[in-house]
Amino acid sequence: MGKTLWIGVAVIAVAMAASFWWMTTPPDRAVPIVNAASHGAGSAAPAPKADSIIVPELSQIGLSGEIAFNENCSACHGKNAAGTDSGPPLIHKIYEPGHHGDMSFALAANNGVTSHHWRFGNMPPVEGITEAKIRWITKYIREVQSANGIN
Ligand code: HEC
Repeated sequence: MGKTLWIGVAVIAVAMAASFWWMTTPPDRAVPIVNAASHGAGSAAPAPKADSIIVPELSQIGLSGEIAFNENCSACHGKNAAGTDSGPPLIHKIYEPGHHGDMSFALAANNGVTSHHWRFGNMPPVEGITEAKIRWITKYIREVQSANGIN
């Protein structure tokens, strides 16, 4: 018994302290985890402000989607899906159709999302949302994305 054991104990203690620090330190919310290179996006840029987002003339379904979005999603994803302190912007290159197909909207709303792109924490499942509303919301987001050059 001797030094080696104590060194081992010390190493484990330091590792535990470090992971505790990592888990409890407030994340830097504005910075996506993904980097620009892996997504070909200006991911490190700050979230766009609601007013800087171009809202096109929406289709009928898009308009219904906007209403459903404001009721169910904008608390976290913000007005015009521009993001808030509680959730990322969806008018963002990360969420272009090729990276996050329409299915990912249904999955997100129904099952929630385990935090992986950002540091806002997990998205909980959206209670009481219907499949129809999810389709409208997805159409709304796609129309706004497209008006902002995200295709
Ligand atoms: C309580 C806050 C909250 C609400 C309400 C919310 N979201 Fe989210 N959402 C988040 C967070 C946080 C993330 C980012 C997770 C991550 O780090 O990738 C996210 C991510 C997403 C994603 C990306 C999924 C993926 O595969 O990466 C989609 C799509 C999405 N949300 C759609 C919606 C829709 C549609 C609604 C409303 C029906 C909604 N969200 C409501 C917090 C929320």
